[in-house]
Amino acid sequence: MDILLVATHNQGKLRELQTILGDLDITLRSLRDVGIDTVVDETGNTYEENARLKAEGYLRLSGLPTLADDSGLEVAALQGAPGVYSSTYGGVTATAQFEYLLKQLEGLPFHQRLARYVCVIALARPGHPTEFVQGTWPGVIEFEPRGSYGFGYDPLFYVLDQDCTVAELTPEQKNAMSHRAAAARAARSVLARWQAEGWPQPTSL
Ligand code: IMP
Repeated sequence: MDILLVATHNQGKLRELQTILGDLDITLRSLRDVGIDTVVDETGNTYEENARLKAEGYLRLSGLPTLADDSGLEVAALQGAPGVYSSTYGGVTATAQFEYLLKQLEGLPFHQRLARYVCVIALARPGHPTEFVQGTWPGVIEFEPRGSYGFGYDPLFYVLDQDCTVAELTPEQKNAMSHRAAAARAARSVLARWQAEGWPQPTSL
């Protein structure tokens, strides 16, 4: 059986990935599934560093090939902030965060509010260098929040070709077009190659 550890406790992320990797016949396991409750801290200053820390850290802990992601929101007018620090920018609650973001962009017209979501996935297997793939999703930071699906900055993230915010898209729609989905589709190619090369066997611990 080709087992891949996904460095998450979030069952939603696992299901989303399962949909995209569906036909590869890889069994996904979450940290909980394999009984890991150690937290690998995200102390890096880039998405790549954080994704690597988690993928290699949980590979060491489990002996299993491991997929880990790190993502964030980048706003052009803020020179790419909040970026890798998105989860704590302006507070820890979603409301505090988007109020802070709106304040930073106060007075800027629509065309100066360009942004993108970024997701980097690291794929670590025993005996090989870690590999990275990335997905992005362009948008514009709205003037006020709209919609109730999603999480984080979604009510402020306007998607031009959908003419609505991410929080107005259903989870299915979001999962088909998000930065995470794009990165997962790129990861799918790497995993298909791993299968062709012979799936990495768990290392003994
Ligand atoms: P994580 O790496 O997936 O935990 O995401 C880090 C942070 O980036 C989150 O706490 C959010 O602030 C932001 N973020 C990443 N992806 C999304 C998304 O799809 N919607 C809203 N916020 C996101």
